[in-house]
Amino acid sequence: MKLFDVYPINDINITHAKGSRVWDENQNEYLDLYGGHAVISIGHSHPHWINRIESQLRKIAFYSNSIKIPIQEELAKKLGDVSGKKDYQLFLCNSGAEANENALKLASFHTGRKKIIAFSKSFHGRTSLAVAATDNPSIVAPVNQTDHVMFLPFNDPQALEDAFRQHGNEIAAVIVEGIQGVGGIHVAANDFLLSIRKNCDQYGAVYIADSVQCGYGRSGKFFSHDFAGVEADIYSMAKGMGNGFPIGGIIISPKLKAKHGMLGTTFGGNHLACAAALGVLEVIDQEELIHNATEVGMFLNASLKSIGTFTDVRGRGLMIGFDVPEHLKNLKKHLLFKYKIFTGEAKPNVIRLLPSLAITMEDAATFMQQLKNAIEHYQD
Ligand SMILES: Cc1ncc(COP(=O)(O)O)c(C=O)c1O
Repeated sequence: MKLFDVYPINDINITHAKGSRVWDENQNEYLDLYGGHAVISIGHSHPHWINRIESQLRKIAFYSNSIKIPIQEELAKKLGDVSGKKDYQLFLCNSGAEANENALKLASFHTGRKKIIAFSKSFHGRTSLAVAATDNPSIVAPVNQTDHVMFLPFNDPQALEDAFRQHGNEIAAVIVEGIQGVGGIHVAANDFLLSIRKNCDQYGAVYIADSVQCGYGRSGKFFSHDFAGVEADIYSMAKGMGNGFPIGGIIISPKLKAKHGMLGTTFGGNHLACAAALGVLEVIDQEELIHNATEVGMFLNASLKSIGTFTDVRGRGLMIGFDVPEHLKNLKKHLLFKYKIFTGEAKPNVIRLLPSLAITMEDAATFMQQLKNAIEHYQD
């Protein structure tokens, strides 16, 4: 059997990893400023995370949500403590798309309404409603097309105000990334997020903070929406949550009430996934990784600006993007194959940095030095 060929892949076989380093089958060492698409939050193969998973595996890996699973409550308590959203309720699933799918569904159940507001350059996942709320027609199949989703310009409080004035009583939810990731690293302005909160309150709609990529401490706060001092009704999470162990979830404001059967999943919240997620939160907490994300992020941001090569260095914490000029258009490839550094991208010309929150200042400085070398010796 062959693989279904949907991924444009790099010809590299990573065989082991530690912290912010990975090694291929030929023992080449790479510096990882991509984290497998923002997934590696506490560093590859963290010993505490491995211990948590190993010891859980020896007890029980899985049972379904038909029995009590106390480790889910332990995870909810720790997540409340670390995120500061102590009075929210946790629903666990398996991926970012699934988290958003459940968030949108819950908003519709809660309001009895059908319309969703999403924004230009948004990415919310590839399942039916999540992809319908994603601003990329090339990944929306005909069966996913719906007129329930309304796209508005990002960071435009006036357009939002106008849409609510016209359709306010039909709108179930507004879904917004605190920092757009796939769209190219665009930070939602504080006044924009405040106007989402205000309009949702006024018209009884649900504010969904898609924190799948920008959440879990990556921005330098647990949720990047916290910078605006707003509280969303639902936060969706996934990538950094398990440090590579598949888990996603939503946390839900106390004003949204649960009903048996309303949401559900077979695998979501299994013992092993909860152990992995608890391991992640314990390390984030003990090693003060959110503080590290702020510090190293500030260093990278300032250093990138000081080179003068890149226009518009942007982002927060360890979610950084910059536009690559045309004469360096293969820079990302050069960084990977000549300098052995993984970075992310956003089409058409953005490099995205999404390292582990545990990346050291030394590794960040090594990256900057190698980036300068790559620019200085650039040759296609
Ligand atoms: C903001 C955002 N939401 C949702 C998703 C979908 O997550 P998943 O790929 O786990 O379904 C992504 C993935 O890149 C994302 O960046």
